[in-house]
Amino acid sequence: MIVMKKGSVALIMIIVLSAGCSTGKMNAPDSYSIIPKPVEVVMLEGSFTIDKATELSVSPLTPETEKAAGFLAALLRRSTLFPLPLNERSGAGRNSITLLIDTAAGTGEDGYLLEVTPKKIVLRSPSASGLFHGVQTLRQLLPPQAETEGGLAGGVLPVVPACVIRDEPRFAYRGMHLDVSRHFFSVDEVKRYIDILALHKFNTFHWHLTDDQGWRLEIKKYPELTTTGSQRSETLTGHGGRSPFTYDGTPYGGYYTGEEAREIVRYAADRFITVIPEIEMPGHAVAALASYPWLSCTGNRLTVQTRWGVFDDVFCAGKDTVFAFLEDVLDEVMDIFPSEYIHIGGDECPKVRWENCRDCRKRMMEEGLSDENELQSWFITRIEGYLNSHGRKIIGWDEILEGGLAPEATVMSWRGITGGIEAAKMGHDVIMTPASHLYLDYYQCEPEGEPLAIGGYSPLEWVYSYEPMPDELTEEEQAYVLGLQGNVWTEYIPSMSHLEYMAFPRAFAIAETGWTPAMKKDFEDFLARFTCQRGRYDLMKINYFRGEYRNTRGRTK
Ligand code: ACM
Ligand code: ZN
Repeated sequence: MIVMKKGSVALIMIIVLSAGCSTGKMNAPDSYSIIPKPVEVVMLEGSFTIDKATELSVSPLTPETEKAAGFLAALLRRSTLFPLPLNERSGAGRNSITLLIDTAAGTGEDGYLLEVTPKKIVLRSPSASGLFHGVQTLRQLLPPQAETEGGLAGGVLPVVPACVIRDEPRFAYRGMHLDVSRHFFSVDEVKRYIDILALHKFNTFHWHLTDDQGWRLEIKKYPELTTTGSQRSETLTGHGGRSPFTYDGTPYGGYYTGEEAREIVRYAADRFITVIPEIEMPGHAVAALASYPWLSCTGNRLTVQTRWGVFDDVFCAGKDTVFAFLEDVLDEVMDIFPSEYIHIGGDECPKVRWENCRDCRKRMMEEGLSDENELQSWFITRIEGYLNSHGRKIIGWDEILEGGLAPEATVMSWRGITGGIEAAKMGHDVIMTPASHLYLDYYQCEPEGEPLAIGGYSPLEWVYSYEPMPDELTEEEQAYVLGLQGNVWTEYIPSMSHLEYMAFPRAFAIAETGWTPAMKKDFEDFLARFTCQRGRYDLMKINYFRGEYRNTRGRTK
């Protein structure tokens, strides 16, 4: 630990924060326990104390900068109970907190420069999103009681340790996913999830809205998708891979209205998080086929799935009515979600129905397709063309490589990293989300005594160890790796408290991998900072996993 005197700030030092939360004193290293770890932290002597007279301002005041400054103002007002009005001004006098858009801040677009002295706090960034990230750092520098109403109005002072922090993200894409099909999470629960992501500087929320076990987004033109497709008669109680199967006998359902989905999009945008919706096709579509049987190859009546797995009934690739349906659905999806990307799934699509379907065979003949993989590729490419013509881009799981990759597609590499490497070598953008490291539905410690999970063994240390940039790529090819994402599939995650148990703190490790330069990552240091921040997470009532964080099996692959 190095504490520098004011005046020696010019000498930029990278300080490795050491372990220990013992002192509770300002300027002890634990007061700077920021996750994800910033690029440069210079600890200074002294601290800034917020009081009733502190002036809070932002310049220029725009709808975007107001989001960042407004977030800070709301946090401080709620905890200190001071009025703290937000002004627009550029001078940063004594006893002030000033947020400035500054292209000379010396950071990348999404970065920030935070200077805290006993006299004032100045936060600069080239962008409003950078200011928001700086606000999250400032938040983590405040005592944990900042998270509670009146928490800084009594005994604990609203004090920020003096420092200079220069920071910026390593990757442009830092995502977390949530499957709301297998289990449904309410609007308030999704907002809480987004809140926790924002605190850790994630910028993307991948919302998996449709699957075999439930269609969860209202589509006005096709009401059966929610009246029928959002409900299942019961749910598997044991593991999906082990028969005999047992069920709970309890009907289950839920969906978001278009208005509720828009509310989530706005809520996330206020936290500089983009929501990417996923509408699964051509597989994982049983809930849609149960709603409208003419969407399948056979036209048979189906019911919304009650167990977990991969199912043979998929969207028919031969019938033009299926594409008319999907285009209508995507029209409404694009209207709700302004994101550049729409995720169209593409994973785990069995081909057996297509092999036996007259319409699909006719399509293959007409389009000169030699096998069902090429038919899948044709399907995805046709949907991509539709979305591209509306100014959007597609993301698909790595199976979309099979049979030929759609021309503009971004690949999400989940079955390991080879799909990602292949796509980057072909000049396609890639998001790394290998199940081996980044699937947070896997066990995080020895399974004995743990709630049922899908399998695997991915303790915090293992998740933290993941390096998204494959050695196999040249520097030029590496530019296609946009970033990484943690996935939370919810077959075995029926509630918000269980979701928090599985996702946290492993998602915090993913946040650090996405943000912090690889050289600066260190698991013991991360663990120490996490330990220091636990008081905050406790006051936020996050049900994070509290067991063994280390890779005790010595897992190496
Ligand atoms: C996936 O896990 N099926 C993308
Ligand atoms: Zn068909």
